[in-house]
Amino acid sequence: MRIGVLTGGGDCPGLNAVIRAVVRKGVEVYGHEFVGFRDGWKGPLEGITMPLDVPAVRGILPRGGTILGSSRTNPVKIDGGVDRIRQNLRDLGVDALIAIGGEDTLGVATALAEQGLTVVGVPKTIDNDLNATDYTFGFDTAVQIAVDAIDRLHTTAESHHRALIVEVMGRHAGWIALHSGLAGGANVILIPERPFDIDRVCDYVKARFERHYAPIIVVAEGATPAEGTLALQAGELDAFGHVRLGGIGQVLEREIEARTGFESRQTVLGHVQRGGTPTAYDRVLATRFGLHAIDAVHEGDSGVMVALHGTDIVRVPLSAATKELKVVPLERYAEAEVFFG
Ligand code: F6P
Repeated sequence: MRIGVLTGGGDCPGLNAVIRAVVRKGVEVYGHEFVGFRDGWKGPLEGITMPLDVPAVRGILPRGGTILGSSRTNPVKIDGGVDRIRQNLRDLGVDALIAIGGEDTLGVATALAEQGLTVVGVPKTIDNDLNATDYTFGFDTAVQIAVDAIDRLHTTAESHHRALIVEVMGRHAGWIALHSGLAGGANVILIPERPFDIDRVCDYVKARFERHYAPIIVVAEGATPAEGTLALQAGELDAFGHVRLGGIGQVLEREIEARTGFESRQTVLGHVQRGGTPTAYDRVLATRFGLHAIDAVHEGDSGVMVALHGTDIVRVPLSAATKELKVVPLERYAEAEVFFG
């Protein structure tokens, strides 16, 4: 078989580990051939490829990013996009595709599988917001990066008696904020699933200073104030209709300082959370996903995604993974609330 591989959406530590596992098992165990598609769905859409064989994947296990490149190109939104992909795959002799991505990339994979193409998905996102899998690789690395930053911010916050706000990624789901806030001993954690009350946040900040400690506020980029409490500016939209976020940390910095009188500073971790080498946990998870994805293709499966259930890798319908996001249940958030203030 000749199999195409692509990585789409925001990059994520562990992508290269998946590619390596797919190619190593695909070539060495099953005798398949691979074509690397460049830059997400742009590759199959425009027929942009790169060689993908065992030498091409040597040494990439610990490397962040993706050797295939990535983009947020959405072929379903482009006139004739799906037909162009079908034609390019035919011209290149590609029998099946492995699409490694998050909700957007796998949403396209779902649509293509429904239209008769052979596609197997691998879930990836630092946000951990894909349904039908317990965890996605990249999340553990992102959380560790955020915790390292929070640990460092604690000492400078104490020295200057400041409130420090740490803005982490997560536009619809607050998993990174919740886990890094819990692990880093945050004073308050704000997530998109639970609109916040600024007065309450300020009360937590004051209470913390009263006990002679400096507060750390961890906020997901998609967190919003409760209706009618604070106005936020709207951002631009990308090809999948997502708002470009960023700015809630700055709003909190300004509001906390004005309302409590304590000096405040924000740190936006941004793309640092997605860069660099994956943790051991993410390397193992990504490798296992890759091994099971090539098994699925080899066995002629399509329209499925590999997923982590407990400690097992299973196959689930792609549609189950992409129909809605996995957000933080409010009872999970309540566990963390015990430590607020
Ligand atoms: O989906 C992953 C993610 O890192 C989100 O957490 C974040 O909101 C978004 O990508 C940022 O996208 P971009 O890299 O296109 O700015």
